[in-house]
Amino acid sequence: MNKNKEGNMIGKNDEFPESILVTGGTGSFGRRFVKTILEKWPQCKRVVVYSRDELKQWEMLESFPKEYISRVRMFLGDIRDKDRLKKALEGIQCVIHAAALKQVPAAEYNPSEFIKTNVYGTENIVEASIEVGVKNLISLSTDKAAAPVNLYGATKLCADKLVIAANNVKGSRDIKFIVIRYGNVIGSRGSVIPLFLKQKKSGNLTITHKEMTRFSITLDQGVDIVLQALFEDDGGKIIVPKLPSYRILDVAKAIAPEANFVETGIRPGEKLHEELITSSDSFNAYKGDKNYVIYPPGASPDLDKYTKMEQGLSYNSKDNDWFLTQEEIRTMADLYLSEQDKF
Ligand SMILES: NC(=O)c1ccc[n+]([C@@H]2O[C@H](COP(=O)([O-])OP(=O)(O)OC[C@H]3O[C@@H](n4cnc5c(N)ncnc54)[C@H](OP(=O)(O)O)[C@@H]3O)[C@@H](O)[C@H]2O)c1
Repeated sequence: MNKNKEGNMIGKNDEFPESILVTGGTGSFGRRFVKTILEKWPQCKRVVVYSRDELKQWEMLESFPKEYISRVRMFLGDIRDKDRLKKALEGIQCVIHAAALKQVPAAEYNPSEFIKTNVYGTENIVEASIEVGVKNLISLSTDKAAAPVNLYGATKLCADKLVIAANNVKGSRDIKFIVIRYGNVIGSRGSVIPLFLKQKKSGNLTITHKEMTRFSITLDQGVDIVLQALFEDDGGKIIVPKLPSYRILDVAKAIAPEANFVETGIRPGEKLHEELITSSDSFNAYKGDKNYVIYPPGASPDLDKYTKMEQGLSYNSKDNDWFLTQEEIRTMADLYLSEQDKF
């Protein structure tokens, strides 16, 4: 058995897949995921990174210690190209689907590009995985897909639906489809900690709304949840980890208590609070120790593992009973800074 950072067991060594393909493997999540596999799971002999930009792939490869290089393949390709995907998927047991376009304002300005990548690209991955004989497809989702108010969230909701509905068309094939839905990744590109750290030097921090709250997850926690999902008994479900929330004002106070806080107003397509499970989804949602799970209507979850979620309640960042303190946020900001130069 292998352990994560909190000392929890993840799966059995002999069950770990020998080959994994990560779409979007050069992104924030993909890089951390691939690094974790290379360091902790030697039984995985082939890790394929699938993405478009050769420079990011080259830089990623350059950053690996030499002993890992023989296990990694850098595959240039677009998820919009199903034939290319099928080539990359030959002999692959598990697919982690992390490729996406994800900047909210860019989605509003270029909607068709987001639809082509996030929706049709995901459809390609689902179909190619079934056709090639993959065993596991785990797709990353976001809180913005729950009752979406912007195009990015809407395309991710479509992507989630495509992955879950694939269970209906897989027939007798031995393949599991799982969606992992979580909130803001602390320190990811464009997120609030790097922004405030940058603004701190000027003495002015821009805060969209003083009441704003968000869910929070670290990259390592995201990686752990995906690794655990590889060992799930059944597919056709959305896994939602129980996460802490933070108040945007607490992040500002934790990072630059002496600064001026300038309120700029909520941006188009932004919510004051995020939801991971809507009140409508709650009718099909279940609670486990560490996660919630949303099943499609009519499914029969294992009731030894889960209890039913309170019906009609939403799981949102405002009413959450777990908030990060300013001290905890400061620790995360320090961690973010200390990790900047590492692969
Ligand atoms: N970051 C967050 O706060 C957060 C929160 C919740 C959920 N998520 C979800 O987690 C996943 C990973 O996010 P991330 O933060 O790692 O994103 P990221 O850093 O922006 O990385 C995106 C990756 O996707 C690749 N990509 C984009 N379009 C592609 C295409 N058409 N074909 C192939 N590859 C493509 C990019 O590489 P190229 O540009 O070189 O192709 C890059 O490797 C996404 O699904 C996102 O929706 C993220």
